[in-house]
Amino acid sequence: MERKITPVVISTALGLGGRGIFPYTLWPDYRKLLKAVRETQTAVLTKSSTRFKRMGNFIPWNPLTWKYIQRLPGLGMLNAYGLTNPGAAKAAAEIRLAVEDGFHVIPNFYPEFAKGTDQAIRETLEALEIFQFLLGRRFWAVELNYSCPNSAEEIRENVEQGLKCSREVRERYPNLFIIAKISICHPYEFAQELEGLGVNAVHAINTIPYEIIYCPLSHPRSPLWRAGGGGVSGGPAFAAAYYYNQGLRRKVKLFLIMGCGVTSRDDVKKYFDIGADAVSFCTLALRDPREAAEIVRMEFSTRNR
Ligand SMILES: Cc1cc2nc3c(=O)[nH]c(=O)nc-3n(C[C@H](O)[C@H](O)[C@H](O)COP(=O)(O)O)c2cc1C
Repeated sequence: MERKITPVVISTALGLGGRGIFPYTLWPDYRKLLKAVRETQTAVLTKSSTRFKRMGNFIPWNPLTWKYIQRLPGLGMLNAYGLTNPGAAKAAAEIRLAVEDGFHVIPNFYPEFAKGTDQAIRETLEALEIFQFLLGRRFWAVELNYSCPNSAEEIRENVEQGLKCSREVRERYPNLFIIAKISICHPYEFAQELEGLGVNAVHAINTIPYEIIYCPLSHPRSPLWRAGGGGVSGGPAFAAAYYYNQGLRRKVKLFLIMGCGVTSRDDVKKYFDIGADAVSFCTLALRDPREAAEIVRMEFSTRNR
């Protein structure tokens, strides 16, 4: 398995283990995407796990919760998924299966700062031990998710916690490639401080809070307002994400994975043109896996020309 971030990476859309989400796996175009990702050794960032099982808002087998993931016009999505997952041990076991199956997978972990900073960091370190134990040498990188779009205020407030957590992970794992996933609500100083303490890469950005994308005059409130508003991804998020990333590139030198809003090859090129070291996408893989597969294959042939 390659120990590097490929120029194009798939974020979240291949699930907790990184080899596909059921029932998407029943869809031939999505299966073709999985094949392309495996054959090209494209890096896959998983869906977030937490240390212990967590019941989020969206439960795949409960139709009453399906409203927490909605389609938006322009190849967009709105989600208040809420991090449903079976915990780090099961996630690690799934990742191991994916890696053994030939996928190039990097785990994404969500430190639950709502439990208190010290507890969240303790749980993060425990989860990393589990990944290390189950993946061995194939555990060379981790993505720490500091950017779940609960509310803009909550995200802004987690800066100190994110820095402390990254520092402790850096100390405990000096050779681990750490990716910090940040939000449009984070000030650029957050990325600069992460760079200063030795984080290897920043992934900008996660889904964008609904009220940032949609003007309150034309869209008075999010259809998911009861669940905090939800995060917008895909086409409707591109302009704001592009603007944020353009500014961020001027502030940091570290490896920058730019993403959010990619719906075409043209968008990938736009991010490379403003200095992305790698470009990520998620929603495109779920809404138009055929285009996603073409991007993956095209990027691979450019890389190997
Ligand atoms: C349904 C759904 C679930 C997501 N779950 C996670 C997650 O568990 N962890 C995470 O870091 N990002 C998660 N994301 C965010 C994506 O990885 C990505 O950063 C975001 O959607 C922006 O990129 P895009 O416009 O290409 O989708 C999720 C996005 C969607 C649409």
